[in-house]
Amino acid sequence: MDFKQEMETARQMVEARLAEFFPGDGLQEAMRYSLLAGGKRIRPILTMKFCEAAGGKLGEALDFGCGVEMLHTYSLIHDDLPCMDNDDLRRGRPTCHKVYGECVATLAGDALQAAAFQTVLSAKGPWRGEGKVAPALAANFLAVAAGERGMCGGQYLDTIGDGKVIHTAEELTAINDKKTGALLRAACLMGVAASAGHRKVEENCWDSAKDYATNLGLAFQIRDDMLDVIGNAAEFGKPIGSDASNEKSTYVSLLGIEECERRVLDYTERAKAALRAGTWRGGTEFLAALADSLAERTK
Ligand code: IPE
Ligand code: IPE
Ligand code: MG
Ligand code: MG
Ligand code: MG
Repeated sequence: MDFKQEMETARQMVEARLAEFFPGDGLQEAMRYSLLAGGKRIRPILTMKFCEAAGGKLGEALDFGCGVEMLHTYSLIHDDLPCMDNDDLRRGRPTCHKVYGECVATLAGDALQAAAFQTVLSAKGPWRGEGKVAPALAANFLAVAAGERGMCGGQYLDTIGDGKVIHTAEELTAINDKKTGALLRAACLMGVAASAGHRKVEENCWDSAKDYATNLGLAFQIRDDMLDVIGNAAEFGKPIGSDASNEKSTYVSLLGIEECERRVLDYTERAKAALRAGTWRGGTEFLAALADSLAERTK
């Protein structure tokens, strides 16, 4: 397996498809500005690669993945607003509200969220018979992940909080699992759903995907909090020190960089172990290598 090559192939498929969606001016321009700003595209790549692991083809899950990426981009636009993290830099560019103003940025996020569900629900695939429910199943995974039980609920705890300034590691884990883990979980499960729409997928693959994503999500957010301290803004594409200036309680403020490093590696190993617990038809080497690469990411 050539990890870099496979990553690049999947990434280019995502970029090309996303570029087709919002060609207009006005609100579409602001949506396009944030969506096509060159994020890592981890979530749609996970969707496509889980579809492949479950025996399907990458392209069968492409629109599910693009839906997840639209929802993720909306969450970033809103996360950067002055009422939330108040950040000026995202994906290496001025944030959406810095360029278009808060009103348009809010609406661009709202519209991306609606477009995410439309994209998932109107996805075309080789689904037949009972498998025709694949888009509805995928949209349901996305709805759970996006809402109060997932990303929005996690963002609420992260910003408004639960009345506490300092969180315990257990409380932080619960917040991170909602604000970041939930959408990664949906991304992975939606990939399995795409494949399950036209071939048999072993029951244990669903839990395998879910547990992989949960551990990957926890590692991912700790690494993000680390890069907010030790990262390089030009490479990270976001401001350094945003969490500290917002007096956020993160794993880094609680446990220090070294313990964070240890936990990222620990969650990464757990993610890979979860992958091995599934009876996958296709290969999972890429997904294991992706977990390793994210543990060491610098952007
Ligand atoms: C940033 O996500 C928000 C977090 C959940 C930490 P990514 O690190 O995936 O951001 P992009 O999509 O590559 O810009
Ligand atoms: C927020 O976490 C994750 C989202 C749900 C958007 P952060 O606030 O740490 O994300 P970044 O660092 O701004 O990308
Ligand atoms: Mg935030
Ligand atoms: Mg933020
Ligand atoms: Mg962050």
